[in-house]
Amino acid sequence: MYKILANTLFMGKEIVFMPHCQSTNSEAIRLCAEKSIGEGAVVVTDHQQAGRGQRGNSWESAAGLNLTFSTVLKPAFLAIPQQFLLNVIASLALTDLMTEDGIEDIRIKWPNDLYINSKKVAGILIENQLSNTKISSSIVGIGLNVNQEIFHYENATSLRSVTRRDYVLSDVLIHFLAHLEARYLKLRSGNHQQLLEEYEASLYWRYERHTFYSEGENFEGVIMGINHAGQLLVDAANEERCFGIQQITYIS
Ligand code: BTN
Repeated sequence: MYKILANTLFMGKEIVFMPHCQSTNSEAIRLCAEKSIGEGAVVVTDHQQAGRGQRGNSWESAAGLNLTFSTVLKPAFLAIPQQFLLNVIASLALTDLMTEDGIEDIRIKWPNDLYINSKKVAGILIENQLSNTKISSSIVGIGLNVNQEIFHYENATSLRSVTRRDYVLSDVLIHFLAHLEARYLKLRSGNHQQLLEEYEASLYWRYERHTFYSEGENFEGVIMGINHAGQLLVDAANEERCFGIQQITYIS
């Protein structure tokens, strides 16, 4: 099924297909640690039974209908404080994929959830292995809802729900890998500012007044962008506040 002929330099040249597994991120971390797979390798499954999400959440995906996979990157050119740029390129590559498909109103809900028409279509879990001052390897795990149409969660959607088209999963994966490679090469060439600006331009709720929760209370604020550490900048009562991952919740 995943006999991939990716039109890329290195991304997806090595594909490990598992009919089922607990978590492609966990499998990729294990295979990477034992040096069985290298940069650009992709671990993909049809049935992920214990998918992991951000903030210790789980990721559920109907068997055979969606993409659940993890790619291996070796961004030794990035310093540890720059690791948020990996979230940026993965989010932008998903945005590129959906834009190419003619989908509109795609937004990135900070730090890296992908939304279409205010419903979540994809999530990203990045797990980095650090050595001294560098990122020795990065596992970029993606859950993309593709052909599933019935969800337990009200706020979820899929490519098919939006476009009314049926997708071949391996084709979607090939296209995504080409976009990820293009974004990764831009990152490697040092084009950080442009990537950050594109990411900010796609931010969900940017420049809109909304309610957030942090440190035990709700407050009103306006998302302005992110800083170089990848923290969310929110203008609240004319004071600019910055939040790290897990320090703020979107309310309404
Ligand atoms: C989130 O939205 O919380 C992130 C979800 C990430 C899910 C993907 S599916 C493939 C990879 N393997 C995992 O266990 N998780 C990621």
